[in-house]
Amino acid sequence: MSVPYLGQGEHIVKRDTRIVHAGRPKYRAGSRPVNPPVVRASTVDFESLDAMDAAERGSRAGEPVSAYGIHGTDTTFALEAFITELEGGFGTKIFSSGLEAISSVFLGYLKPGDHVLVVDTVYSPVRRLLHRFLGERGIGFDFYSPREPDIQRLIRDSTRMIYTETPGSVTMELQDIGTLAQLARQHDDLLVVCDNTWASGFCYRPLEHGAHLSIVAGTKYLSGHSDVLIGSVTAESSTFPTLHRTRALLGCSVSPDDCALTLRGARTLHVRYPAHAERALKVAGWLESRPAIARVLYPVLPSSPDHSQWQSQFDGAAGLFTVELAGEVRGQTKKFVENLTLFGLGASWGGFESLALPCDVAANRSVDDWSERGDLVRLHIGLEDPQDLIDDLDTALSTLR
Ligand SMILES: Cc1ncc(COP(=O)(O)O)c(C=O)c1O
Repeated sequence: MSVPYLGQGEHIVKRDTRIVHAGRPKYRAGSRPVNPPVVRASTVDFESLDAMDAAERGSRAGEPVSAYGIHGTDTTFALEAFITELEGGFGTKIFSSGLEAISSVFLGYLKPGDHVLVVDTVYSPVRRLLHRFLGERGIGFDFYSPREPDIQRLIRDSTRMIYTETPGSVTMELQDIGTLAQLARQHDDLLVVCDNTWASGFCYRPLEHGAHLSIVAGTKYLSGHSDVLIGSVTAESSTFPTLHRTRALLGCSVSPDDCALTLRGARTLHVRYPAHAERALKVAGWLESRPAIARVLYPVLPSSPDHSQWQSQFDGAAGLFTVELAGEVRGQTKKFVENLTLFGLGASWGGFESLALPCDVAANRSVDDWSERGDLVRLHIGLEDPQDLIDDLDTALSTLR
């Protein structure tokens, strides 16, 4: 199965240049719009049945051709080409949210009787998906600690997938995808799937480390403006046909307007993403020095147990980290976040604005015990002036006793 690019991506090697050029329209009759047109279609109208057959065959084979709107239009294909370039894969499929991308991977690659190992730090709605949907349909699962030194001992004959996130949600432990992939290759039909939303394909590419599938919630940094829900799955060549078939069978569909908005945001990823990281590092470093803060969970900080792994494997960082409040201010997260004036209170992250979110991590872990640790607040550092954010945090922290 071949997935030709709409743009010139195959010739582009450097990341920033790829971000600007991947998935751009081809010249037609000597000109082209800079951005792909927003092609809205349910019905695609053909001149002949032969033309219709050819489009359907191409569409089934995973080529970027429209036979019916549900399979995408040129706008969808442009975003797919862009993310394939970014993630360094063979092909990408777009979903209506990050969570839909994740659930489609479980539905597409697992069947009743199969077993999946899931990192304990997984994005918490995935726990609910496993408990309330997949488990009831005969798909077994176990959680493993992000600090588990011996994953091999957890693999059963029926294990078909190791599902992971690096770093993990809220508590930010890194995973070594290379080691997981090496282990998986010693078994038949064992896939490594990585939720790569934190890195968003920008500073880490799981497929290069041997993962079979990489998932990104484009809702976050790719679209980057807190106004789109979108997800992607990028596959290597051996896993792409199932991805393509699954999306078609499930009837997943994304508005071309959302694809265009995502591409519009993504064109400046290389400018926005490091700007978040630069600000986040300043704010995180300052927070570490505050008596009301016990710990800052952020692999970028030298104090993080994952710092050297981050240094050797990542080429940048997101502006998302978590603070653990000191024992003396236990139970005061509500007061803390409600006294912030520049941070919105909201789920999600990756937009231009700063956000704070208290997280009940103990309720979302089944292997590691977080019940004795301090209260956690996840912070997304936006593109405001970092000194203003520090002043805002300082004022809010000073209200705690
Ligand atoms: C790590 C991670 N993966 C996936 C998702 C799901 O993305 P979406 O909100 O687009 O469903 C989120 C959302 O917060 C997330 O944090």
